[in-house]
Amino acid sequence: MTKGLYVHIPFCHSKCFYCDFASYPGQEALIPAYLSAVEKELSLYSPGCFETLYIGGGTPSVLNAKQLEQLCNLLARVAGPLDKLAEVTCEANPESLTADKLSVLQSFGVKRLSLGLQSWHDDELKTLGRIHNRASFLAAYHSAQQAGFENINIDLIAGLPSQTLERFLSGLSGVLSLRPAHISVYGLQIEEGTAFFERGILCDHPLMRRMLEETHWRLCEAGFEHYEISNFARPGLRARHNVRYWQNGEYVGVGAAAASYVNGRRSQNTPNVQQYIDHIHQGLSAVVFSEQLEGKAKLGEALMLGLRQLDGYEPSAAMWRAFGRAIEKHIRAGLLEQKNNKIKLTFEGLFLANEVFYSFVAPFDEDE
Ligand SMILES: C[S@@+](CC[C@H](N)C(=O)[O-])C[C@H]1O[C@@H](n2cnc3c(N)ncnc32)[C@H](O)[C@@H]1O
Ligand code: SF4
Repeated sequence: MTKGLYVHIPFCHSKCFYCDFASYPGQEALIPAYLSAVEKELSLYSPGCFETLYIGGGTPSVLNAKQLEQLCNLLARVAGPLDKLAEVTCEANPESLTADKLSVLQSFGVKRLSLGLQSWHDDELKTLGRIHNRASFLAAYHSAQQAGFENINIDLIAGLPSQTLERFLSGLSGVLSLRPAHISVYGLQIEEGTAFFERGILCDHPLMRRMLEETHWRLCEAGFEHYEISNFARPGLRARHNVRYWQNGEYVGVGAAAASYVNGRRSQNTPNVQQYIDHIHQGLSAVVFSEQLEGKAKLGEALMLGLRQLDGYEPSAAMWRAFGRAIEKHIRAGLLEQKNNKIKLTFEGLFLANEVFYSFVAPFDEDE
């Protein structure tokens, strides 16, 4: 079976105030040892079984051009020529995406870029702890286009502290004026351990919902397909690597904190960069969490992932047996709808998806 390959680059130039990803500023000196650990971990996999590749972070564009070239070379050794894969994406941040790095990515056949903008407005970017501004984002976006990138995703966050609906929407219009291939819009999550959490920042959920509803209407009107809760693509340009996740497909994650899902087993590497390097160089596994999904938990996971897609999902007979009552409860509540053999989130359910998903993860409510 083909798989997706994810490689995690856990380095960042600074830590954004909302971010709880495995991403660390000030550890750039570890990059050479990290890349050789990634090379060693990649050698565990047989070449040729990967269909898509996603280089994520952290901030992959923190690597300098030579390091990026080294990374692409070692990925091509296991995944084959990158331009032959179904899709190769690299995440990048505006402040570190330079022309030499863009030309390295192009020369290896990386065709998809995902750029973290988060907000169109400089004051909001400051509030988020971002180190770029709109001008540096636009410079990076245009130089990516000049370098030949046609498939660019832009990440935005809705519901920022003190953000008004009008300001959010003017930012969305700004992004639309750039005519990107793909836009991801996430509702702000306040995660424990982040600077936002420590400061006691709270989300205005009703306002965020209005922003996300308006996002749906405006992007659909502009010709985008809303195909996953947070993701919008021009026709034919859905993110294939991510679609694999939602279709419960297999993927291998390499690097610190990277997650894998193979043969029904979920596992995750240590998020500690030094520990990851040490374990791999000593010939040990970097896995710190591993779980074989079985029975109801396995069915529930597949159902939950599948329902993230707006096209809906066709539950198997075993899923209906395990979760039929819960599904029907959500249909009665107007959060799910059934069409032929498929079920899908309703428009209302899109914004209350976690309430639905809660029924499909352990511990299960046996009354359902
Ligand atoms: C892997 S992360 C970061 C990628 C890249 N380093 C950047 O900052 O643009 C991917 C995306 O998740 C979103 N994200 C991260 N933390 C979030 C949070 N707490 N709430 C909502 N969205 C978040 C951001 O839009 C971010 O671009
Ligand atoms: S949001 Fe991106 S740039 Fe900011 S700390 Fe997280 S991974 Fe790094």
